[in-house]
Amino acid sequence: MAAAVTNAAKAPESETPPKPVQRWSASDYARNGRFVHELAGPIFAMLGPRPGERILDLGCGDGTLTAEIKAAGASVLGVDLSDELLAVARMKGLAVRKLDGHALDFASEFDAVFSNAALHWMRAPQLVIAGVAQALKPGGRFVGELGGHGNVAAIATAIRAVGDRRGGDPALVAPWFFPTPEEYAQLLSAGGFTVKEMALVPRPTPLRTGMEGWLRTFGRSFFDQFPEPERSEAVQEALALLHPSLCDKRGAWTADHVRLRFIALRNA
Ligand code: BEZ
Repeated sequence: MAAAVTNAAKAPESETPPKPVQRWSASDYARNGRFVHELAGPIFAMLGPRPGERILDLGCGDGTLTAEIKAAGASVLGVDLSDELLAVARMKGLAVRKLDGHALDFASEFDAVFSNAALHWMRAPQLVIAGVAQALKPGGRFVGELGGHGNVAAIATAIRAVGDRRGGDPALVAPWFFPTPEEYAQLLSAGGFTVKEMALVPRPTPLRTGMEGWLRTFGRSFFDQFPEPERSEAVQEALALLHPSLCDKRGAWTADHVRLRFIALRNA
């Protein structure tokens, strides 16, 4: 491991990692979450992995993009909290570790840290950014895409309404962090980065397996709090609320995704 960083911002001492809320099913994710990596072309191009680089894939999930970084000739380590998804990544022959993004323990060893569709699950962004800064070599790049302000607004509102009706746990309703570009740029600057690119991009996402698959996979922590048959009724209620906005006349569903994409360089 390389030497410890002295001039990256330190994590605020009072901040402790929030408890993870989401449990993943690898099979649900493979079926209903394919769009996550299928639509990652723009952020992968922004990363531009080069042969010989050492890259950290933060929130690597089942390793689909980790494998692409490896195929580009870089040496890549994936980290994630989900045992189920990490097991799939290991079966692909990838180097991965179970690690909370709020508690990264690397020191100046990566040329780049990459993250796709994972940072919005990490609700103490100052801790994450401090860990990324420490993990990077001076001048190293942090390239990421997460849900941005307004992401899944209709879906979150429908889940909130179902939670209100059924007395669900409010902490499980929308356990995500969807910052504005200004907010995230400010967090990066305060964390020892120079922001090079930051864009909020609406990206309506056709859901080949429908909205029920999306809710089952990404809203699992919320719906699983209800025992059957209440759980299935809650899903049907959310679908009915969403239908007028997100389902077209042919029955095709679209998720109201908004992406926040950025490149930031760790200050020397
Ligand atoms: C997203 O990729 O935008 C997303 C995924 C899970 C929950 C919420 C949003």
